[in-house]
Amino acid sequence: MNVEEAEKVLTEIFDDSAETYDCCETQVFEPLAEELVRRAEIKEGSRVLDLGTGTGIAAFKALEKVGPDGYVLGIDVAAGLLAVAEEKAKRKDAENIEFKRMSMSSMDLSADSFDRVIGNFSLCCSFYYERALGEAHRVLKPGGRLTYSHDGPSQNPLDTVFDAVYSKHKVKEPSERLGQTREADSLQATHWSRFKDPFAALDALEAAGFREREASISYPQWIFHEVEAYLDYRFTGGLSELELSEMGPRQRDKLRKRLIESLNPLSSKDGLVVRQEILHLSCQK
Ligand SMILES: C[S@@+](CC[C@H](N)C(=O)[O-])C[C@H]1O[C@@H](n2cnc3c(N)ncnc32)[C@H](O)[C@@H]1O
Repeated sequence: MNVEEAEKVLTEIFDDSAETYDCCETQVFEPLAEELVRRAEIKEGSRVLDLGTGTGIAAFKALEKVGPDGYVLGIDVAAGLLAVAEEKAKRKDAENIEFKRMSMSSMDLSADSFDRVIGNFSLCCSFYYERALGEAHRVLKPGGRLTYSHDGPSQNPLDTVFDAVYSKHKVKEPSERLGQTREADSLQATHWSRFKDPFAALDALEAAGFREREASISYPQWIFHEVEAYLDYRFTGGLSELELSEMGPRQRDKLRKRLIESLNPLSSKDGLVVRQEILHLSCQK
């Protein structure tokens, strides 16, 4: 499978999750977007570009900062997610926010045209991380800033346990679609995961021409009061939902039972606490 095919397969997966994206992902991506926008220090009246905007979670937060005289553009390759974002803009009657279908690695946007470029867990979905940074540099005005975030180098212990159990229960004879999605997913990980290392990400920012480069790590946490609620979150949308849809009911029950048995000992009195390592990057043109 080549990169173009892999991108297409994964975009379809995002599009398939358009209806459930907000109710499922907001609990995790909303606080991350809030923090991203805080770090971006967006000023009133400025022009902001949100890379891989999805349903516009970070873009709408940026809109609150730019006020009526500013402008926010969200770009994404998944038309289904963009349609949800556009619907939200219509409902809010917001005129100074737009959403366009475009790849962050090849943007049909003028050079030197934005004060801020932001990206909430989106650079990590690009097969061309370095090219996307080069494009962000091109469209920023001199003195403008790029601020983005994605997973850091360490996996949280819950994910380690989850992955160990899950990998043993995956469908043995996947459909063509599931097989292709697995392949595309692992190709994407191969392309970007070295940038989980802050030093590799900083080197890439330097190579793209950015100055005043900074990397930092934070550990936000989410509490799922029941292990089942965490599993519902993990199994809604994306590759895992597709994987589950191809399992028979007995296999699905067995997987859930094993996951509950393995994750229960990691629960505290508050529930299952997911402490995620996040890498934050920021730099100036
Ligand atoms: C994990 S989601 C995050 C979405 C959004 N930023 C949020 O906070 O909810 C990653 C997004 O990146 C988009 N994406 C992947 N590759 C892209 C590319 N080359 N150009 C633009 N968007 C891309 C996906 O379609 C998806 O919407």
